[in-house]
Formats: sequence, structure tokens, C-alpha cells
Amino acid sequence: MSEPKKLFIKTYGCQMNVYDSERMAEALAGQGYIPTDTAADADMILLNTCHIREKAAEKVYSELGRLRPLKEAKPDLKIGVAGCVAQAEGAEIMARQPLVDLVVGPQSYHRLPELEARAGRGRKALDTDFPEDDKFDRLGARPKSQRGPTAFLTVQEGCDKFCAFCVVPYTRGIEVSRAADRVLLEARDLVERGVREITLLGQNVNAYHGHEAGLAGLIRDLARIDGLHRIRFTTSHPNDMDDALIAAHAEVEKLMPYLHLPVQSGSDRVLKAMNRKHTADDYLRLVTRIREARPDIMLSGDFIVGFPGETDADFADTLGLVESVGYGQAYTFKYSSRPGTPAAERVQVAEDVKDERLQTLQALIGRQQRAAQDAMVGRTVRVLFEKPGRMAGQMVGKSEYLHAVHVQTTGVERGDILPVRIVSSNSNSLKGEI
Ligand code: 5AD
Ligand code: SF4
Repeated sequence: MSEPKKLFIKTYGCQMNVYDSERMAEALAGQGYIPTDTAADADMILLNTCHIREKAAEKVYSELGRLRPLKEAKPDLKIGVAGCVAQAEGAEIMARQPLVDLVVGPQSYHRLPELEARAGRGRKALDTDFPEDDKFDRLGARPKSQRGPTAFLTVQEGCDKFCAFCVVPYTRGIEVSRAADRVLLEARDLVERGVREITLLGQNVNAYHGHEAGLAGLIRDLARIDGLHRIRFTTSHPNDMDDALIAAHAEVEKLMPYLHLPVQSGSDRVLKAMNRKHTADDYLRLVTRIREARPDIMLSGDFIVGFPGETDADFADTLGLVESVGYGQAYTFKYSSRPGTPAAERVQVAEDVKDERLQTLQALIGRQQRAAQDAMVGRTVRVLFEKPGRMAGQMVGKSEYLHAVHVQTTGVERGDILPVRIVSSNSNSLKGEI
């Protein structure tokens, strides 16, 4: 038998890329590749890229620059670019970067083994098509190896919302949902291999329509799987938070009380310019309904500052919305102009204004995050233990609310879910006792 070849995958961007990277590694296992953690000893290097903001996309080009000496030292090394940059700029990368052997868009990962076989030693392979079938189905069954207690599971890809700032509808295509029976099969398989918590992924996961009762129906079916204890989903659009999903938050015990619900801005003027199709008030009313269903739910969000045309007054509205929601966590971004999106053509906000707004918003959200975390002290949460901590005898896991919790303990195993009393709150984690 021949020596196994080594595969190094570097993943950028969102959790969907994390899931895709796992599936790509599994697909290439059939070609004789085993994973490695270092680029230096790899026979194949895949960059699974993100195109959402300019900075993210630029990372690909600087990483390719860093890989040049490796390729020069080992001409047989295959270098591939996958993910959203591959989709958006694949042909250009191939033309500009001679060291890239293959380019594969997010919808073509099932063709990866064939592309790998075709590429290398000066031969190039590229596939950035949008096939209609379930690429994950075509990737075949997942191997039966044991795995950690938490897993991502992509159930939906793409987006039809066309927010004016966003490249996703162009790079990942229109919305496609995987059939519920396939998802359930994959979930049962993950549970058999040790998974206790599944996070359902989709760019617009609550628009999922692979189950006759939507995402809520899928969640209810998943909740019936013995051995699966926790369900989460991300990312959601406010307009797709339907009554059934809100009810699931009230009724399905395994559905964790944490919801990532991006609103992007608190200004109706900006929301309209963003093509979000909801107002700030719509969002606030939705939050109220969700909290009525699940009073302890922790909310998280995404915000863009410096969207073209955003004034000081608009930004003040965003601060006001954040004040009234009270987030457990939130992600803030400076608007980044993306070629081909409607907002890219508009008059841009000055960089220093964006910087200042970002700092102001981050400070506010930082205070809210800290307050939410501090409020856990004295409470008992249930922690799913994931791995040993950095200190001897320490285990780390996540609470229902996605807070990292460190516990000094022996006799706790990966995958255990135990009640933990929170004793203190540090900069970005909690300390607790069993
Ligand atoms: N500029 C800045 N942030 C963006 N996002 C998406 N597109 C852009 C852009 N062009 C942010 C949004 C989205 C998150 C995943 O990334 O807040 O919810
Ligand atoms: Fe992009 Fe999300 Fe808007 Fe879809 S809903 S266009 S993925 S920001």
C-alpha cells in the first residue's frame, strides 16, 4: 500500500466553512489523504475562503504568497482554493496565481476527488458551477469514527434576501434546503459517534424548507433522537422567525435558549437602504415575542456601521436599539464595499467615521456582554463538557447560553452534561463548581 498523503485545510470565515472543511477532508480521505495540522508537511493544501468582507478576501492572497516557498521546495504539492473567494474570483485567481492547482466553489465539493486527480504539476482544475442537487449527498456517508460532543450540520445554503451589502446571494447562490430525512440520518450518525449537541447551519437557516413544517418541524424531529441533548441553529433572518419557530423555543426542551438574530442597523432609513424589508420596531416586537416564549433566551446579533448614507442620527438609532434589546453577545463590522453588490456603487462613509462608530458600538456591546456574563454568577447552569482546560484538572464546556465555563474537577468526561454553579466571571469565560 502507498504512503498516505497529507492534507492541510485552512478554514476562514463562518461555521458553514468549518462544516464544509470537515466534509472535504472526508471526501479526500477516499483519495488516500489523511489530515495534518501543519502546512509544511502537506501534500495538498486547501484554503477554504471567505468573501464576506474585503479583509477576509485579501487574506487568501497573502496566504498564497506565504505558500510559495513550500511549493517551490515541493513541486508535487497541490494547492487548492475553495469557498466563497473561489466562487467569486476563482478564474482570476487561477490566472494570476500560477501556484494554484485547483479551484472549487462551495457547491462543487462532491467533485473534489475528481478535481484533485486532474490537478497538479502544471495541470489546473476548476469547478464553480451551481448544481441543483444536494452536494452533501453526493459526498457520500461520513466515516464511522468517534468525534467530539459538538458538531455543525449544514441544512440550508444560499440566500434570496439580497441585502444591499452582501455577497452571499452571489457566492453561495439562491436558497437551497437539504431534505429533512437526509439531515436526520446524518444527525443520528453524528450522535452514534458521540455528538451531544448539533448546531444546524444555514446562511438563512430559519428559511429552511426541507421539512413540511419548516425549521421548527426539523427541530422537533431532531429532538426525538435519543442521545442528542442540545440543538442550536444559526444564522437567522428576522423576517423568517415564524410562529412555529418561536413556539419551538417555548416547547422544545432540547432547543437551547440562545438565538443569533442579526438586525444590522437600528435606523429605519438605513434598514430600507439595506433592503432588509423590516423596520427597527418590527425587530423589537419580534424580540418581545421571542422573550415571551422563552424568557431566559440570550440574544446575539450582527451590526454593520458606516453603511453608505448612514448619518450620526442613524447611528444613534442603532445604539438605541442595542440599548433596548440588551444583547448577550453581538458582532460588529465596518461596512466593507463588495464588488457587484448594490451598495458598492453608493457614496461611502469616511473611514475615520466608521472607525469611531465601530468603537462606540463595540464599547456598548462589550458592556452588555459583560453584564450578561456577570449575571450568571450565583446561578446554576448546565454545562456540556468539551475538552480539558489549560490548567491541570480543568474541564471546559459551554452553558445553555453558550458561555464558556471552566471547572476544576476530576471524573468529568467529554460529553458529560452536568449542573454547574457559577462562582465567578472573568473577561471572556465563567468559572464554576460541580
Ligand atoms: N460589510 C460589512 N459587514 C458585512 N456583513 C455582511 N456583508 C458585509 C459587508 N459588506 C456582516 C453582516 C452579516 C455578517 C455575517 O457579516 O453583519 O450578518
Ligand atoms: Fe447576506 Fe444574510 Fe442578507 Fe442573506 S440575509 S443577503 S446572507 S446578510
